[in-house]
Amino acid sequence: MNIIQSIAEMQAFSETARMQGKKIAFVPTMGFLHAGHLFLIRHGRSLADVLVVSIFVNPIQFGPAEDFNRYPRDWDRDVQLCKSGGVDVIFSPKAEEMYPESFQTEVSVPLLSKNLCGISRPGHFQGVATVVVKLFNCTKPHVAIFGEKDFQQLAVIKRLVQDLNFDIQIIGIPTIREADGLAMSSRNTYLTEQERRSAASLSQALFKAQELFQNGERDARVLIQAAETIITRQKNASVDYIKICDIQTLQDVNTIAQPAVMALAVKIGTARLIDNVVLKE
Ligand code: PAF
Repeated sequence: MNIIQSIAEMQAFSETARMQGKKIAFVPTMGFLHAGHLFLIRHGRSLADVLVVSIFVNPIQFGPAEDFNRYPRDWDRDVQLCKSGGVDVIFSPKAEEMYPESFQTEVSVPLLSKNLCGISRPGHFQGVATVVVKLFNCTKPHVAIFGEKDFQQLAVIKRLVQDLNFDIQIIGIPTIREADGLAMSSRNTYLTEQERRSAASLSQALFKAQELFQNGERDARVLIQAAETIITRQKNASVDYIKICDIQTLQDVNTIAQPAVMALAVKIGTARLIDNVVLKE
């Protein structure tokens, strides 16, 4: 397995692989890999000749009061996991090379970034879109793999790939969950034991709403209320949002007539957790 830090070296590696007719799969991450990432890695491995994983905690997608500095990092463990997952290259650029002082370009997908996490994390999706475009240009993949847990992020990336004519196939992989339903996330590590127990309420709330939907309920307010009741039973949980949105536009819907997503963000202790389920017949 190669570890590449330099952007020019990464580009040269991918260019050579492409000239040899090899297919490149890319899994972008911020490290502190968990079973959800390993699922993306396994999928990438099965699709391509060359598998590149990036590990880069992207400073420009964190707000000033967010957790950039304390975002969990474990380089040695990540390297071991990538090795055993059959990764060919870890691309781990330096922030100084990604964002030199002269850097000023921003990639923005304004409508899809507006609602949901875009409300409480202004600038977040611009930071994600910008780094993902840069990572695509560094790693030159044929296919890139993202988790559906970050539903809005995936929608933003699919949109920018279409709008900017990137010749890259984007694949979304369903959320991997712990035994009690909690969506896997590097941020779960912030939870104390008691908070970890409360965090199971997020998926319980989503699954309850999904069950009501399957039983014919189409009023978004009723589904949101049912989900909120389950989460707010936990004293240490504070709801940022619970919303039901059109799956294409990510705009709020009142009555579910088309496929929709119920998405939520909840703060438990110091961890802000997100999760979602798709509501469709
Ligand atoms: O989902 C993530 O881990 C990050 O947002 C990504 C896509 C690697 C960009 O920094």
